[in-house]
Amino acid sequence: MRWLITGGLGFIGSNFIRLALRERPELQIVNLDAMTYAGNPANLRDVEADARYRFVHGDICDPAAVAAAIGDGVDAIVNFAAETHVDRSILDPEQFLRTDILGTHVLLEAVRERGIARYLQVSTDEVYGDVHAGESVESDPLRPRSPYSASKAGGDLQVLAYRTTYGAPVLITRGSNTYGPYQYPEKLIPLFATNLIDDQSVPVYGDGLQIRDWMHVEDHARGIMHVLEHGELGEIYNIGGGNPRTNLEITRLLLDGFARSFETHVRHVADRAGHDRRYAIDTAKARALGWSPRVEFEQGIRETIAWYRENEAWWRPLKSGEFLEYYKRQYAHR
Ligand code: DAU
Repeated sequence: MRWLITGGLGFIGSNFIRLALRERPELQIVNLDAMTYAGNPANLRDVEADARYRFVHGDICDPAAVAAAIGDGVDAIVNFAAETHVDRSILDPEQFLRTDILGTHVLLEAVRERGIARYLQVSTDEVYGDVHAGESVESDPLRPRSPYSASKAGGDLQVLAYRTTYGAPVLITRGSNTYGPYQYPEKLIPLFATNLIDDQSVPVYGDGLQIRDWMHVEDHARGIMHVLEHGELGEIYNIGGGNPRTNLEITRLLLDGFARSFETHVRHVADRAGHDRRYAIDTAKARALGWSPRVEFEQGIRETIAWYRENEAWWRPLKSGEFLEYYKRQYAHR
């Protein structure tokens, strides 16, 4: 069995590769990654020497790079490669359209031409848009509201169109907010954790009452693997942790973890443009397939805090150069 993983040097992709190599001894993995700012070879240092793992440097938008990664064939493609950060998509949308829509198209063409047996698109609960009440199910209409989520929705629609038009063997997972080791420190939890380690303040957008459903990355990776191996072709599966929390609740949890106070370490800043208030997904379909999240939320957060404390050598180099430029552009004026 050989799987092509795209974007495997990113946060969820690298955790997925580590899990898959650990739990599937017969498996070979090819990792195609463009090494953008969020694709970090240090995320997979521990598997680099594994004979079952091969890295190919390249962009999913480039058909030649995709062909090189497929080589003489793969049994499945799992597409993690994406621009993922909502705030960056507001500053600079074009790259999101390129990678998240065009890149998906290039991979789908390869699936068609090479007759690849399974293609899984890693998507997001953000494609459902702002959910005022209840929980999104897979058949709900897509109402994305940011350049990021609109790009991801565009990718999903391409995948579904290839199913309808060409009978392509596709699956989609829509994951909720994910946290854990190796997450690039622009996202809420690693940004706040690393700021607090450095005794800096944490920037809370607007009133901080927005709600996200949090899931540990190991549960997310396990869910994707489960859908890849057991999902019904053509189907979409929501994957979520079932831990709805406001951003203020997350902030307080992190402040407590680092023994810092709200008064001294929270900076209220202007809200994100078009900020979605709430995401909430119904995960009954993935559960019926035999997957469910295992990591208890407060325990997962404690372990994540400990991981960022113990792995300064991993994140500190990331909070320099390009990141500092971005941080200034994103936060200085608010
Ligand atoms: O829901 C799944 C999505 O979760 C993924 O598809 C995205 O790729 C991923 O980035 C994430 O999107 P969010 O926008 O929800 O994640 P982020 O960590 O950027 O923000 C989480 C919440 O925290 C959101 O309501 C905005 C708020 N926030 C974020 C940052 C970075 C702050 O209040 N301050 C901050 O500095």
